[in-house]
Amino acid sequence: MARSPANIAFIKFWGKKNSELNIPFNDSMSMNLSDCYTTASVEFSSDLADDLIVINKEKVEGNKRGKVVKFLDLVRQMAKSNARARVVSENNFPMAAGIASSASAFSALALAASAAAGLNLNTKQLSILARKGSGSASRSMLDGFGYWKAGTSDETSYAVQLAPKNYWNLRDIVTVVSNKEKKFSSGEGHAAALTSPYFQTRIKNLPRRLKEMKDCFRQKNITMFGELLEQEAVDLHLMAMSSVPPIFYWNEGTILIMRKLREWRNEGLLGYFTIDAGANVHVICTEEDADELEKRLKQLPGVEFTIMNRAGDGAKLL
Ligand code: PMV
Repeated sequence: MARSPANIAFIKFWGKKNSELNIPFNDSMSMNLSDCYTTASVEFSSDLADDLIVINKEKVEGNKRGKVVKFLDLVRQMAKSNARARVVSENNFPMAAGIASSASAFSALALAASAAAGLNLNTKQLSILARKGSGSASRSMLDGFGYWKAGTSDETSYAVQLAPKNYWNLRDIVTVVSNKEKKFSSGEGHAAALTSPYFQTRIKNLPRRLKEMKDCFRQKNITMFGELLEQEAVDLHLMAMSSVPPIFYWNEGTILIMRKLREWRNEGLLGYFTIDAGANVHVICTEEDADELEKRLKQLPGVEFTIMNRAGDGAKLL
């Protein structure tokens, strides 16, 4: 049994160079979330006629099942085994709502399944395996803050630790404005990204933003870090909105939070937004401002609930 966190990307993975292997166009940077995680148990048995997949207490079929079975096939191939598996996976947060459930799900599955198959993989091998389930899952393997080196091949595309979890007292207040399943999966978003006329410009400019962000992270400069964080989030959504077909992830609640954060910053309350492939907003701040920001966010119309996170552990066997 393994437990693994979701992570929030400060610099995002958007667009795949190789969609079979999930090789991205650019490096990305993230923080593991202490309070949003998946617990997965995997048992291989020659008595089973077929794989049985239970996610959030429901037996899954169709596409979702297909993805998990394909992933289990990778593990079986590595372990040179044909045994079918019983997989039980559970999130402690709503699925497919812009909190990267695929990251925690596939990193937990990578660790639980490889251990159950008797493979003794190191962190780099686990990151590579998790990446093939879902790109962002590669970053959930290590404790604290992660850095996924895009690489150019299966062996060179994996995440390393950028800093341990107590390096910086950052908080991510996940602010849920919609917990319905999103209409466009991140997979559809990655494919559509390449059709945006701005995609090449993004890729060209990213090395500079990455460097600047790493510098701010090193200096723990929240204001400059926050500015870059927001630019990056807007960039991803600009790609999505200008893709063919266009993808709009935001709703009224999303936009209200973006506006309010700006207002509050004028009062000295320093919260910055980042948004993944969904409507929900991740408000990034330091510990000092976290409680006041959470209190205000909860009072906004459209906000259903919030989840306060610090930087958390990576995937662990239980
Ligand atoms: O790992 P995927 O394929 O679900 O893609 C993740 C995409 C974003 O969450 C929007 C960005 C990221 O880097 O996590």
